[in-house]
Amino acid sequence: MKQDLLKLLDLTPEEITAILNRADQLKYEKKHGIPQKYLEGKTLAMIFEKNSTRTRVSFEVGMFQLGGHALFLSGKESQIGRGEPIEDTARVLSRYCDGIMIRTFAQAEVEELAQNADIPVINGLTDFCHPCQVLADLLTVREHKAVLEGLKLCYIGDGNNMANSLIVGGLKMGMEVAVACPEGYDPAPQVLEFAKSSPAHKFSLCRAPKEAAAGADVVFTDVWASMGQEEEKTVREKAFQGYCVDTALMALTNPGCMVQHCLPAHRGEEITAEVFEAHAQEIFDEAENRLHAQKAVMCLLMENR
Ligand code: CP
Ligand code: NVA
Repeated sequence: MKQDLLKLLDLTPEEITAILNRADQLKYEKKHGIPQKYLEGKTLAMIFEKNSTRTRVSFEVGMFQLGGHALFLSGKESQIGRGEPIEDTARVLSRYCDGIMIRTFAQAEVEELAQNADIPVINGLTDFCHPCQVLADLLTVREHKAVLEGLKLCYIGDGNNMANSLIVGGLKMGMEVAVACPEGYDPAPQVLEFAKSSPAHKFSLCRAPKEAAAGADVVFTDVWASMGQEEEKTVREKAFQGYCVDTALMALTNPGCMVQHCLPAHRGEEITAEVFEAHAQEIFDEAENRLHAQKAVMCLLMENR
């Protein structure tokens, strides 16, 4: 039976740990020039219905490093953009390729693609979640802090795809998760429902960034207007006043607190240039780890098929 990576809600803590461990191994091999052609002769189709820099480059480079090939399909330029049903696209790509990565709007589209494909499907971001990013984030925090369990993860900003995946990923790995977002911009109900299943002291959602940041070991933030929300930019800028990760907020966190941002970042909005630059090493480690985490996902899903 093929497996997919559609959302972190589908994974057990053991499965997440297995991905992080494999990513550590792949990163070590890469840095030490050890051959890693685990996907020789295999092809990954990458469907993009939204823009990307990191996701596209890290999947394509990752596939190359593993001895395989990645194929870029723009939603607009393929028949998907002219309305070919997703289930037919799934069946066609299953005849040519060994895996599909998709970045799109609706989570339902990714789920439908996976249901109709005979090959693994990987979610490269939807409006609902960004599992590959959060696997890279967990990898980065574990590298810097040695453990995940017991650390306090704080998220400041929009209850968007990043917030959804961080809440699920953080709680599954035994972290304490504290979220601060403005009213009307809460994380998805399905995610808040999942969070309720954790012990009460492990999850909090509040309106005050200072409350969420107090005693944090890692602070996350993300853009106020995500892809597809460009028209809401002005309204959102007003709603998110006071939700900027700045030096005053960082002063409330634990000593050695990390800052993570999935990028692209809007300096002067969700994060100040000062905080961004002070934590640039960690933020670009995080970007690099997209490569290693996704190589791990591709190996685990595609190598024995
Ligand atoms: N963080 C992230 O997914 O970046 P891209 O949009 O550049 O892929
Ligand atoms: N929340 C952002 C993440 C970009 C990687 C977006 O969806 O645009």
